[in-house]
Amino acid sequence: MPQIARSDPTHPGANAGRRWLLLAVSAAILLAVGLAGCGQNSTELSDGASSDDVNAGRVAYERSCSACHGVGGQGTQQGPPFVDKVYEPSHHSDAAFLLAVKRGVREHHWNFGDMPPQAGVSDPEVAQIVAYVRRLQREAGIE
Ligand code: HEC
Repeated sequence: MPQIARSDPTHPGANAGRRWLLLAVSAAILLAVGLAGCGQNSTELSDGASSDDVNAGRVAYERSCSACHGVGGQGTQQGPPFVDKVYEPSHHSDAAFLLAVKRGVREHHWNFGDMPPQAGVSDPEVAQIVAYVRRLQREAGIE
């Protein structure tokens, strides 16, 4: 039995066509990456968080935290304000936010009761929320 040739002699252009497609796809990817790199909104802030982080943090905060901690971190009847000396970075580090979201918080600074763990908030979202809260604190002169 004769060996069947791998390349199809009736379609000599098939391989070249695929190479062009590959080239077009990589060009498109390069272009997309290049454009994303020029995003006008991602100004670096002094602490390394970009304004994109702060904006994403505000959205996640308003979805998951503001019901208790209030719009703009001002606090509510259900939870304490973040724009308060108690939550300045040297007293409550960024890690405290991750722990609070994952494990919840036992009442200890205030009389609002316990904070339940916040399922559905990812680690990167917590980092963005922290960037947003730190921005609010800085604006209020709490550093
Ligand atoms: C159901 C209400 C509620 C929600 C929702 C809530 N919290 Fe809280 N949180 C509290 C209360 C109440 C406290 C204060 C506990 C105390 O110290 O007495 C608190 C305290 C904290 C603290 C301080 C922890 C510490 O170590 O003292 C952090 C940080 C925190 N919350 C982050 C968050 C973040 C981030 C979100 C949103 C993802 C969130 N909380 C959503 C009620 C809430």
